Amino acid sequence: MQIKWAKYVISSPDYTKCPPADKPEYAFIGRSNVGKSSLINMLCNFEKLAKTSSAPGKTQLINHFIIESSSAATADAAEIKKANWYIVDLPGYGFAKVSLRSRRRWEQMIENYLRKRENLTMVFVLIDSRHSPQKIDLEFMDQLRKWEVPFSIIFTKTDKESQSIVSKNIKDFFSAMKKTWQFLPQYFSSSAVKKSGRDKILALIEEKNKEKI
Ligand code: GTP
Ligand code: MG
Repeated sequence: MQIKWAKYVISSPDYTKCPPADKPEYAFIGRSNVGKSSLINMLCNFEKLAKTSSAPGKTQLINHFIIESSSAATADAAEIKKANWYIVDLPGYGFAKVSLRSRRRWEQMIENYLRKRENLTMVFVLIDSRHSPQKIDLEFMDQLRKWEVPFSIIFTKTDKESQSIVSKNIKDFFSAMKKTWQFLPQYFSSSAVKKSGRDKILALIEEKNKEKI
């Protein structure tokens, strides 16, 4: 799959204000500063599409981007099929410096969006590959299970630690999950700096798009 273009659409405070639910949609969520916006830019090959920042809490609203991709419709690539779909950059959780009130607002906004957005095809939960399993991430995945929201995991920033530390953190993460999960989700490793993980993530999106469009 090739990304033809990507464009910012709108930032919404509530799922009811989001664009019409008429295209497959992929949402990116995870701890504040985990690298959601950077990953989106890397996937789209568009450095300044989603706003990134070294200060946590940059993304506050539900941000929609529309993507046009093309892929071979037949094995010999004689026919090219175009597709339009949405990427959503969501505000992160676990940012220490927020008031209880704005945390509640975040929780309500996110819960409503994840449970009620009809065209939401897949959620990608981003986990920082530099750290051992964090309670806040495991708890967020428990919420997703309760809400019956399908998700995959993306371990981010893999350029920042050695391969062996990253592998250990991933292994430990799934060991922690196994305590309460019968089936483990599909996962990817990525680095926005090295542009790694892109092909596999886009291949999953392509596969899901084919089921939907
Ligand atoms: P919020 O919107 O504030 O929740 O943050 P976010 O999850 O969107 O993170 P963002 O993409 O803004 O990245 C946060 C910081 O991490 C920035 O300084 C990025 O440059 C850095 N960063 C993101 N991804 C990577 C990566 O793969 N490797 C490295 N080395 N740095 C990264
Ligand atoms: Mg962001």
